[in-house]
Amino acid sequence: MAEPDGPPRRTLHIETYGCQMNVYDSQRMAELLAPLGYTQAGSSKDADMVILNTCHIRDKATMKVFSEIGRLRDMREERGPDGREMKIIVAGCVAQAEGAEILRKAPAVDLVIGPQSYHRLPELIARAARQNGERLATDFAAEEKFDELPKARKADGVSAFLSVQEGCDKFCTFCVVPYTRGAEFSRSAGSILEEAEGLAAQGVRELTLLGQNVNAFHGRGRDGAEWSFSRLIRRLAEIEGLARLRYMTSHPLEMTDELIALHGEEPKLMPYLHLPVQSGSDRILNAMNRKHNIGVYRSIVGKLRAVRPDIALSTDLIVGFPGEKAADFEETLALVREIGFASAFAFKYSRRPGTPAAAMQGQVAEAEKHERLLRLQDMLFAQQRAFNDSQVGRVLPVLIAGRGRMAGQAHGRSPYLQSVHFEAPPEIGAVAPVRITGASMNSLSGTQA
Ligand code: 5AD
Ligand code: SF4
Repeated sequence: MAEPDGPPRRTLHIETYGCQMNVYDSQRMAELLAPLGYTQAGSSKDADMVILNTCHIRDKATMKVFSEIGRLRDMREERGPDGREMKIIVAGCVAQAEGAEILRKAPAVDLVIGPQSYHRLPELIARAARQNGERLATDFAAEEKFDELPKARKADGVSAFLSVQEGCDKFCTFCVVPYTRGAEFSRSAGSILEEAEGLAAQGVRELTLLGQNVNAFHGRGRDGAEWSFSRLIRRLAEIEGLARLRYMTSHPLEMTDELIALHGEEPKLMPYLHLPVQSGSDRILNAMNRKHNIGVYRSIVGKLRAVRPDIALSTDLIVGFPGEKAADFEETLALVREIGFASAFAFKYSRRPGTPAAAMQGQVAEAEKHERLLRLQDMLFAQQRAFNDSQVGRVLPVLIAGRGRMAGQAHGRSPYLQSVHFEAPPEIGAVAPVRITGASMNSLSGTQA
């Protein structure tokens, strides 16, 4: 019911799948809907509207969406004819890739909205409510989206994501991103700085710049000139209050010497880099259309370590790409052994319809992929554990994010993105020196030094 002093009060629940770009988009959708009276519900059960912000990258992620739609439909039916309504909205990359299919297969869905169209959510929801609206919005104008999103963002905590670039023109043969997120596009430097300053003014101390190919950023400044990604980082580092900058995900091809050098020059740029390599075999990298070989990757890592010896590296790897022989996989293991990663994500190759690799000869049997994944993960887990163990005895600057599990405890992040729990009163937003006394697979513990 409408209230005299504002929009009707309704609740919204967003389920986010996939990458950090989706996490960012979910936050922006929530902000966009707040003026319409939507506050966040704790779960779908209590919500008047549920948005599934979906991921299309691998088969499993996509299948989850359809089973979740079924679950929500049942939940809505259980509320009965007199119960509250529940709008079901599908957003994100599955929406982009399979929009029409979703509407056909899942009539329970009220609205399908792609990642470049969600700035139109308020209008589309209003139209859908009048029963005469479009149910499918999957246009591809990223520029328009960033122009139309609210300028002022509400910060939530000491760390925030900031999307600077979207889309991809690399066309790796296994990947759906160039089709779901569209062509590579950079936001203007001016709008990024405005958003960053607004977040810093609200107490944000750490920014993670996001983009599918974040280091391909080439947005225009207010002066009309095209800015490099390094220039953007240097300018962001001048913002008072911001203590830490990070970025993801990078493509090796865009790791310019300028950007590598910046890792040795800019103290606010954290010594941690997620740099996907995908495979340790040049033959497979070529079939993947990665546009870099192992030599290029090795040389980037060498240069980074020369300017910032403590830099921690993270990566993505795929096993069982079509045509991957046992010898290729051994080369992947050898590369991992040689580089030494602080953390990594390993995936079984997933055949995505419409991508070139899906039609390639030499698809690898599921059992073989599974075995390779386990072997690779064993090595990666051991490296992650060893990296965490190597911090014991060091004093690390920790950005305090909140209270720890127990009274008198705080938790935060190390420069290397490790989660740290330590004994100290939580002074949220401060960067405190912490002596590391313990390490596990996923976190460190210590006491304030
Ligand atoms: N199969 C398996 N992994 C994939 N990725 C992207 N597409 C696929 C696919 N078809 C992985 C890549 C990428 C990460 C985000 O997901 O490693 O870097
Ligand atoms: Fe996908 Fe390759 Fe683009 Fe990364 S660089 S988003 S893996 S096509």
